[in-house]
Amino acid sequence: MDELLEWRKEFPSLENTVYFISHSLGAMPRRTRDRLNEYADMWTTRSIRAWDEGWWEMPRSVGNLVGKIIGAPENSVVMHQNVSICQSLILSCLDFSGRRNKIVSESMNFSSNLYIYHAMEKRGARFVTVPSDDGITINLEKLLAAIDEETLLVSVSHVLFRSSFIQDLRALAQRAHEVGALIVADVYQAAGTVPLNVTELNLDFATGGSVKWLCGGPGAGYLYVRPDLWATLEPGATGWLAHKHPFDFVVGPTEYADDIYRFLNGSPNVPGLYAAMSGYEIINEIGVENIRAKSIRQTNKLIELVEEAGFKINCPRNSSVRGGTVVVDVPNGQPVSKELLRRDFLVDYRPGAGIRMAPHFYTKDEELELIVREIKTILETKAYEQHSVAAH
Ligand SMILES: Cc1ncc(COP(=O)(O)O)c(C=O)c1O
Repeated sequence: MDELLEWRKEFPSLENTVYFISHSLGAMPRRTRDRLNEYADMWTTRSIRAWDEGWWEMPRSVGNLVGKIIGAPENSVVMHQNVSICQSLILSCLDFSGRRNKIVSESMNFSSNLYIYHAMEKRGARFVTVPSDDGITINLEKLLAAIDEETLLVSVSHVLFRSSFIQDLRALAQRAHEVGALIVADVYQAAGTVPLNVTELNLDFATGGSVKWLCGGPGAGYLYVRPDLWATLEPGATGWLAHKHPFDFVVGPTEYADDIYRFLNGSPNVPGLYAAMSGYEIINEIGVENIRAKSIRQTNKLIELVEEAGFKINCPRNSSVRGGTVVVDVPNGQPVSKELLRRDFLVDYRPGAGIRMAPHFYTKDEELELIVREIKTILETKAYEQHSVAAH
């Protein structure tokens, strides 16, 4: 008996679709609509007073809901709009003019992050990426060896978005600190499906967002900064919310807030934060350990079914280093994924990887069989061809 299936009634999208897209867009909780109405009611009835009655605090109060999921201490997570902003904000604290000016990352880090680090080359950074040997994993020894006394920042994904490979954050944080570097982990593809604790891992920064496993929708990214670092960091990408006394509107250089608000910039995305809260509450209520146990069972089963069908797996086979996504490389993967979408089987496709499919806590076992059978049928009947033609 799978008790987590009780949650299905809380997610209306599951009634009409076979939902395997939680690595990209988690299903919307039913109660999110009420939360968005609450936002509209606040705006209508409380107007300017809403700021004092919760809106101003939301970057931190909502951050605390995420903080519980990723093991961050109370009041050490602040909400922004997305990961890209959070990463840029971290980089804006760093000085690349000295000998210690290296950023070390993996070539399979999320593309947005890679673009942002390359952009730092104009500010004097040396950007080094460790390539993948097999298109799925990053060799830990090679990544550790790239981190040296000239490294200012180590920036890694916890779970690689393309292949679902889990990196060893503990070893990476240890190495970064041994040589005097800082470490940021993008935990977007882990939070809500792979347990993690930023405090125990001794991370300096963590970034992520809400669109995926957290079922929080777009517009709510989060930034964790290790509290004992706050006083040493002065973001260049700043704004009035980061000022110690924002309502004094003083002229001259900023005086940074002592708390996590020093890592804010301008007005928060209030509706995005309302939308995100229900997903966080549900994930906290279920517990990521429970989600992970089910995810391992179902992703193992999915891999078995995919291999029985004769398709190639493009993610780790060993569940201890695999996140919540299974990546399947079938011929004509992109048009096949389009045909799956047309048939209400929700997946996506990434070039160089294949079709990404993710069961989540609300997935029924029979849906694993349904999706593999549907891929087989689409291939056998060549139903994908209409999309190949459309693409030309
Ligand atoms: C690991 C990872 N980081 C970041 C992002 C997205 O970044 P942003 O929040 O800036 O859109 C994604 C996916 O969209 C991702 O998988």
